[in-house]
Amino acid sequence: MERLRFAAIFLALAATGGGAAFSATNAPVVQTDADLTTARLLAAMLQSARGVISSHQDEINDPARGDKHLTGDVVLKEATARFQTQTGTDISTIDPTSYAGRLLHAQMDSIVEVMDANQATINQEGIGFKGFIPATFARLVNEAFERRVGNEARIKVTAPPQLVRNRQSRPDAWEIATIDGRFETKDWPKGELFAEVTGEGADRRVRVAVPEYYSQSCLSCHGAPQGELDITGYPREGAALGDLGGVISIQLLPQ
Ligand code: HEC
Repeated sequence: MERLRFAAIFLALAATGGGAAFSATNAPVVQTDADLTTARLLAAMLQSARGVISSHQDEINDPARGDKHLTGDVVLKEATARFQTQTGTDISTIDPTSYAGRLLHAQMDSIVEVMDANQATINQEGIGFKGFIPATFARLVNEAFERRVGNEARIKVTAPPQLVRNRQSRPDAWEIATIDGRFETKDWPKGELFAEVTGEGADRRVRVAVPEYYSQSCLSCHGAPQGELDITGYPREGAALGDLGGVISIQLLPQ
């Protein structure tokens, strides 16, 4: 309980511009501002790119249209514009050789890679729903990112265990503890991320979880009636507007 309080207080400090946080024993219990900023930027870039796919969903699903000109470059350009609006950060001002810069560029390259690899699917005429939706796109981007950066960082979109559709996206023990012990508790401020340093030695990681909630547009697939198949062929979860729908889970090497 004591530890929980510390973590919450120090996170608040870090988020408002305090320095690195230390517990009473002087061992760092939370990450630095730089770590949190990196995680926020990576989450924002993923959300921005997913938003681009979402904004083009009707077009992607249109059976009458062939080439949709949604190339990697087009999607990346729209994503970086959204990213700038969301974060106030112009991506070109981030040093590409810094840790954050290298990760962001690997993520942007992954966005381009996934779009370019899926052109045939997206541009197929005569088929409406092609299964190319924001969640699948995000998973593919995160997988491409992992191939690019290896052990340097990890980004994953997961969800409360009872909601997970894709087995590969199942939450690990830390993610479950964060969902149950923090995000699903009634006192947790909506939208507030949780961050913690975990592990020892080579396993030491800054872990950051960003909660995401169902909006109206999600409920055509994740909402009621529970159990009835949605357009993607998965049974609907019966979720409600505003429920915790997922978590962007990020692992960084402490800097
Ligand atoms: C068209 C139906 C559809 C809509 C709309 C939709 N999803 Fe999903 N969602 C899916 C499918 C299918 C998957 C599995 C994707 C995969 O891994 O390829 C998924 C996966 C997810 C995941 C990853 C964990 C898992 O279950 O595998 C989260 C989190 C999620 N959706 C949240 C949302 C949120 C939040 C919204 C609204 C902003 C939303 N979804 C809108 C169909 C949908």
